[in-house]
Amino acid sequence: MKISDLESYDTMIYGGGLYAEMIAGVSLITKNIQKLEGKKIIVFTTGITPIDMRRYYDDLVMKKNFKGNTYEKIKMFNFPGKMILSELTLPHRTAIIALKKLMSGKENPTEMEKLLIELCDADGDFSDRACIAELVAYAMQ
Ligand SMILES: Cc1cc2nc3c(=O)[nH]c(=O)nc-3n(C[C@H](O)[C@H](O)[C@H](O)COP(=O)(O)O)c2cc1C
Repeated sequence: MKISDLESYDTMIYGGGLYAEMIAGVSLITKNIQKLEGKKIIVFTTGITPIDMRRYYDDLVMKKNFKGNTYEKIKMFNFPGKMILSELTLPHRTAIIALKKLMSGKENPTEMEKLLIELCDADGDFSDRACIAELVAYAMQ
């Protein structure tokens, strides 16, 4: 998809999985934010980090993905995602194994690092269609 494909819409909704806190493909939006001035831009994430971990989403994910004042122009929603270990690509499986090894080797892991170790073993589909109600309501406003 090119940014020119989006220019004729007033509202856009973009969703991507989280990979090391980065929203897959979101640069299509962030790199072209000036061209999208005045539009309602909604971005949702899917991930395995529990949704009630608001500091993770509202601080870390926001800061890593939306630099400068980009975050002011975007409304973000976060939804539980799906990670089936046996279905991961080899690079993704390797990344998860490496991350778990790295975190497990820490002498005094922080609470976040402890959670990351646990999340590396998350294996399932945690997605729930009902979660999108809030996003839909916002988009319709
Ligand atoms: C290598 C790798 C890194 C991941 N990093 C994160 C992460 O930083 N935060 C998170 O919440 N979930 C993370 N996940 C879980 C994915 O975001 C989750 O499986 C998501 O639903 C994937 O969406 P997709 O299949 O549409 O790409 C990661 C998964 C993999 C395989």
